[in-house]
Formats: sequence, structure tokens, C-alpha cells
Amino acid sequence: MDYKLISFGIICLTIFLIGSEAPSVKLTNAKCESYNKSWVIMHTCRLKAHSRNKTSLNVNLTVLEPAYKISAKFKMWKRANGYKPFLFDFHLDCCEFLRRRNHPVGKIIYNLLKDSSTVNHSCPYMGVQTLSDFHRIELPVVLPSGEYLVTFIWMFDGKPQFSSNISFTYLEDLWTRN
Ligand SMILES: *[C@@H]1O[C@H](CO)[C@@H](O)[C@H](O)[C@H]1NC(C)=O
Ligand SMILES: *[C@@H]1O[C@H](CO)[C@@H](O)[C@H](O)[C@H]1NC(C)=O
Ligand SMILES: *[C@@H]1O[C@H](CO)[C@@H](O)[C@H](O)[C@H]1NC(C)=O
Ligand SMILES: *[C@@H]1O[C@H](CO)[C@@H](O)[C@H](O)[C@H]1NC(C)=O
Ligand SMILES: *[C@@H]1O[C@H](CO)[C@@H](O)[C@H](O)[C@H]1NC(C)=O
Repeated sequence: MDYKLISFGIICLTIFLIGSEAPSVKLTNAKCESYNKSWVIMHTCRLKAHSRNKTSLNVNLTVLEPAYKISAKFKMWKRANGYKPFLFDFHLDCCEFLRRRNHPVGKIIYNLLKDSSTVNHSCPYMGVQTLSDFHRIELPVVLPSGEYLVTFIWMFDGKPQFSSNISFTYLEDLWTRN
């Protein structure tokens, strides 16, 4: 199994990826935090519940100075007596990805986010960045049912500026099959 190909990736200055139109995935929590309020102000980072099995994610942040070098550390965790690392743990150069669009995992994430976010341009990023009512999900992988957490640490000039951590539950595709 090629973990890189099947894993999720990272995109710059947009926050995260997993929504829950599909019955098998439900966002359960979202937490974001700025580490440097002279560069990033976090206005909004929250889930909106539409129904028992549908939530959407809204993120709104301001980048106060242009960010020319953006990268992100991405890690996935699965809950089992506390969260344990699961499958993916990597670092993506976001600006490089936006120039070349050639990273297979980056592409998956980018395609998930592009319609509901302000990510659709190249670096630098500056000003208000949003992810609005994000709920579309087409996961290209099948995961074991369970509770997951995905943590992102976003870096400008190689230094952590903010994190965004999203949890979700995943149910193997039982509901859509019957
Ligand atoms: C949400 O769950 C309810 C029952 O809990 C089900 O009837 C409904 O079809 C589900 N909606 C979706 C979009 O899966
Ligand atoms: C997100 O997770 C990372 C890695 O575990 C942690 O360092 C960070 O504090 C978390 N951020 C928030 C806002 O919970
Ligand atoms: C915090 O942001 C300021 C303003 O952009 C920047 O000059 C500084 O290097 C940043 N500090 C860290 C530790 O990233
Ligand atoms: C994002 O937050 C800023 C500051 O609160 C606000 O002015 C702006 O209208 C918000 N944008 C969206 C799309 O919610
Ligand atoms: C933004 O997305 C649209 C539609 O997918 C595309 O035509 C356009 O070239 C994109 N813009 C940039 C700067 O990537």
C-alpha cells in the first residue's frame, strides 16, 4: 500500500478537509489556535450542525503580513485508549504545491477544498482567508470505523503560526449500501 498516495495532504492557508455530506463521515470537533497573533488572527473555527449526521466546518482567519513561505505538518490519529498516530504523518511545502500542483496527496486535499475556500491562488497569502460551510467529502480511502483526529500545524518561514485540529467519526460504508 502506498501511504502517500492514499493519504490526505495539506493545502495552504485553508484549514481542513473533511466534511460530512456522505453519511459515513461526521465532523465532531474543530479547534484552531494562533501561535503568533501579530501574523495570524483566528476569528472563527467551528462546526455547524445541520442534522444528526451532517455538520459543516467554517474557518475565518486573517493573515496580517504577506506569507511567502508556507508549509504544513499533517498528522492523523485514531482513537484507541487515547489518540494514537495512524497512517499519515508528513510535511508539505504548500507554496511549492500551489505552483506545480503535482503532489498526489496535495491534489486530493486541494480538490476537496477549492470550491469552499479562498485557497485558489498561489503564494503569498494575505488578508482574510476562509473555509465556508465545508461539508463535501469524497474520501479516496476506506478507513476502519472509528474516531479520528487530524492535526495540522501551519508554518510561515518555517515557524509555527497556527494549528487546526479536526476530529471526525468514520463509519465504514454501511449506510450507503443498504
Ligand atoms: C441521517 O441519519 C438519519 C437517521 O439517523 C437517516 O434517516 C438519514 O438518511 C441520514 N442522512 C444522511 C444524509 O445520511
Ligand atoms: C493541535 O494538535 C497539535 C499536535 O498534537 C497540538 O500541538 C496543538 O496544540 C493542537 N491545537 C489545538 C488548537 O488544539
Ligand atoms: C510573528 O509574526 C511576526 C509578524 O509577521 C513576524 O515578524 C515574526 O517573525 C513571527 N514570529 C514567529 C516566532 O514566527
Ligand atoms: C471573517 O472575519 C472578519 C473579521 O471578523 C469579517 O470582517 C469577515 O466578514 C469574515 N468573513 C467571512 C466570509 O465570514
Ligand atoms: C481558480 O479556480 C477556477 C475554477 O476551477 C480556475 O479556472 C482558476 O484558474 C483558478 N484560479 C487560480 C488562480 O488557480
